[in-house]
Amino acid sequence: MLPAISAVVLAAGKGTRMKSDRAKVLHEVFFQPMVHHVLDTIDQLPVRGCAVIIGHQGQRVLHSLEGYQITPVIQEEQLGTGHAVLCAEQACQGAEHVLILCGDTPLIGHRTLEAMIATHLQQKAAVTLMTTRLADPFGYGRIIMDGEQQVLRIVEQKDASPAEQEIRDINAGIYLVRREFLFSALQQVGTENSQGEVYLTDIIAIAVNQGALVQNFSHDRAIDVLGVNSRVELAQAQEELQARHNRRLMLDGITMLDPASTLIAPSCSFAGEALLHAGVQLTGSTTIGRGCILSRGAVLHDCHLGDDAVVGAYAVLENCSLGARERVPPLIHRVS
Ligand code: UD1
Ligand code: CA
Repeated sequence: MLPAISAVVLAAGKGTRMKSDRAKVLHEVFFQPMVHHVLDTIDQLPVRGCAVIIGHQGQRVLHSLEGYQITPVIQEEQLGTGHAVLCAEQACQGAEHVLILCGDTPLIGHRTLEAMIATHLQQKAAVTLMTTRLADPFGYGRIIMDGEQQVLRIVEQKDASPAEQEIRDINAGIYLVRREFLFSALQQVGTENSQGEVYLTDIIAIAVNQGALVQNFSHDRAIDVLGVNSRVELAQAQEELQARHNRRLMLDGITMLDPASTLIAPSCSFAGEALLHAGVQLTGSTTIGRGCILSRGAVLHDCHLGDDAVVGAYAVLENCSLGARERVPPLIHRVS
């Protein structure tokens, strides 16, 4: 049996770089608030409980988490990622290990986390740290290693020397830590850094100083650990999730003439093969019959198409049902 693992999701920050009134983790990416993607991934893991740290716009975040089996933990003041995890100490009681993720990494998949858990347990590490290598590491914490590629510490962008800024190995912000070590180490973390915050990343140097094993779990698909800090990364995350979904649909028999411009909500379904021209958008409970053709720019919400129906270019349909072989002319707006 696996030792008990608790998950902690950090979602209390404001997300200043979003330039938004809305808490960052509530910004939607591919039809869901960012943090939901993270929680859906955690749902697929063998973890025994999940605490979500909320703070900025706590009530709104809490409201959006209805339906998830989580323990909300309030971080009154956002004093840093280390402080945020400290707030979850009570919620993690009884667990042997704590899996820490950020609410702003919506592309992380459960298989990657399963592999990370397996490595951590196998190596009996005190801390397993997910890292990746980026061509442009700007904004991320850099991984300082010794000559033997052993992780020594993490230095944040804002604290990094010019030489350290050259380092392309970055902290993905995903950690698996032995619980006892985690909370004792966090007690020792100070705020002597450019942001005056309690950095979770400082537990790495503490582990190294104690001679505890820090395992580097380096993940080579950097996009999976993209941290969304601004709307630029929000768009990258959207593009990736859309591409993943479209790829699955194409493998299932849907032709897409231009997948990059084709947006299909996961709530829509296809009865069989279909042909989608560029710019098609399907949302809501839309169902598409076998053999349908959706011409360029067709936009459908909550529609139901019988087999072999054809929708003309730039038609906008809401709540419509089309019979088998029915044809909708181009440039039409029809509501039920
Ligand atoms: C953090 C890491 C950095 C890493 C990057 C990965 C630290 C100090 N830095 O930087 O090494 O490369 O993530 O994406 O940990 N949060 C709280 N309470 C707080 C502060 C933050 O809950 O007091 C939450 C935020 O809502 C966010 C997450 O923690 O979901 C990360 O915070 P953010 O400010 O985005 O950290 P980064 O600067 O991206
Ligand atoms: Ca971030």
